[in-house]
Amino acid sequence: MSSPKQRIVVLVGLPGSGKSTWLAKQDGGGLSSDAMRKLLRDDEADQTIHAEVFALLRHLLRLRLRLGAATTYIDATNLSKRERRTWVKIAHELGAECEAVFFDVPLAVCKARNAQRTRVVPADAMEQLAGRLVRPELAEGFAAIRIVSN
Ligand SMILES: Nc1ncnc2c1ncn2[C@@H]1O[C@H](COP(=O)(O)OP(=O)(O)OP(=O)(O)O)[C@@H](O)[C@H]1O
Ligand SMILES: [Mg+2]
Repeated sequence: MSSPKQRIVVLVGLPGSGKSTWLAKQDGGGLSSDAMRKLLRDDEADQTIHAEVFALLRHLLRLRLRLGAATTYIDATNLSKRERRTWVKIAHELGAECEAVFFDVPLAVCKARNAQRTRVVPADAMEQLAGRLVRPELAEGFAAIRIVSN
């Protein structure tokens, strides 16, 4: 009897789109880029160590898969196809399935929620990130794409 495929679930959405809030209500483990910043720099907002943060995320994801994790959520903005390709590649390498969850929330809503938080992303950075956002597509190698909107 074959066991079900392991799953990587890639969250895709702007800051303030509700990724971490949604993830907190799911079963299964998440790896978050902000948690890596906290581990490496004692500051989950430190944006100066991108390469180290993502090297650590990739490493932990591979370890989780090798140890048999059924589901691993990737909690990062994952705005571009290039960023998402990393996770699809690791899934294929290790025989897992990769899905995406797209937080389809208008920029204005993300900005408003963002402004209420203690850790505020500057408005011009929000605009720039919105300009980089590309909706995930099945053609990228996802087995499924779920949409979360409000
Ligand atoms: N469905 C929702 N309705 C209303 N407010 C929400 C909803 N989801 C999240 N929020 C609020 O919006 C803010 C941002 O949510 P959250 O931290 O989950 O976003 P995020 O996508 O993880 O952002 P980041 O990429 O910066 O980590 C929080 O203050 C949260 O309480
Ligand atoms: Mg978050």
